[in-house]
Amino acid sequence: MRRFPDGFVWGAATAAYQIEGAVAEDGRAPSIWDGFGPIRNGDTGDVACDHYHRYAEDVGHLADLGVGSYRFSVSWPRVLPDGKPERRGIDFYSRLVDLLLERGIAPAVTLYHWDLPRALQERGGWLNRDTAYRFAEYSAVVADALGDRVDTWITLNEPWCAAFLGYGSGEHAPGVRDAAFAAAHHLNLAHGLTAPLLPGSKGITLNPHVVWGPDEAAVRRADGIANGVFEGPLLGRGYPASVIADTAHLTDWSFVRDGDEALIAAPLDFLGVNYYSVTVVEPGGKGKPSWPGCEDLRFSSAPGERTDMGWSIVPHGLTELLLRLSRENPALPLVVTENGAAYPDPVNDDRRIAYLRSHLAAVLDALDAGADVRGYYVWSLLDNFEWAFGYDKRFGIIHVDYETQRRTWKNSAHWYRDVVAANALSTS
Ligand code: FCB
Repeated sequence: MRRFPDGFVWGAATAAYQIEGAVAEDGRAPSIWDGFGPIRNGDTGDVACDHYHRYAEDVGHLADLGVGSYRFSVSWPRVLPDGKPERRGIDFYSRLVDLLLERGIAPAVTLYHWDLPRALQERGGWLNRDTAYRFAEYSAVVADALGDRVDTWITLNEPWCAAFLGYGSGEHAPGVRDAAFAAAHHLNLAHGLTAPLLPGSKGITLNPHVVWGPDEAAVRRADGIANGVFEGPLLGRGYPASVIADTAHLTDWSFVRDGDEALIAAPLDFLGVNYYSVTVVEPGGKGKPSWPGCEDLRFSSAPGERTDMGWSIVPHGLTELLLRLSRENPALPLVVTENGAAYPDPVNDDRRIAYLRSHLAAVLDALDAGADVRGYYVWSLLDNFEWAFGYDKRFGIIHVDYETQRRTWKNSAHWYRDVVAANALSTS
């Protein structure tokens, strides 16, 4: 057995739009994901896992798993549909929090997991600086309603995806192209304005890219554009000069105003890290729409086995990432806020168990080498709406039959329960 430290937080994660459904209930306004396409098979989040109505059953599953924490997100268009607080939406999260606490599960609340109110998109969304101020207002409403009971707060989930897929390649809602850097800055600003308003322990969740490749200059450039744009200002180092230079043909960064970087560097209690795979770059390609500034690079996956997303399975990339982050930010605790794998296997998901086992071993390797990792949240509690892939990709440790909404534990859920109970990974 390899043991995790005492007090290590075990959790499971979800996000509002991916599980809740009930898009037209209790005053919720449309989000940018309602009606967004193309989505595989024409799927929508209209019903998803119907968690809005089945949350009590889902909390029961969390309790049976024995996890100490549940990471979920609050839907902005449910809580502040037209700029004014909607009591019914707020009450839903309040009931969820109460039930979690009754079952001994600590809520970890993400304030933005990509479901921007459509009305704000009509005013420019994350290209409009004002959205950052609206986000702070919305967050204050949630903090006011839940702050007496919620101790762990995450401002944004993966602002890289929100900016570079939502406003760069357009693969994600709202489907805007070629404007990733302005969106990224306004997301950073939203974080900086909001973090000081939150009670308890506060962090942000990034999906830092582990960039590999044979050419040092290519790796440095891709790493700066994907990671430096966020880690620089958020962790007090400002936007890297190399990134400004590498993107000079795309933007003059004039949307960054005096004082913004200081605001964005608001103190953090932890950094949330989502990890799935690595990115390999080399010179001599045609780039990718989600990688502005890397137009001359070729992107590929690491060799070897892949999950159903086509993402290569590279557990030691997670060790490398945790060690890099702790080396660069020695006083900042890290939490793995998402890690998991998509496989179609309904119940006998031994490939998912192998993925989770190898990545938990990678976390242990990072701990052994001195990284301050405080917790791990599996993605995901349930099969759910996987964004542009719709219901085609299943990340859950619990299977969802979308016809009947029946939840069935996969082998990985049983396995995870045992790991959580032992606070250890068996080496056999
Ligand atoms: C992450 C997202 C999460 C889920 C996983 C597979 O990028 O944060 O919502 O889609 O990927």
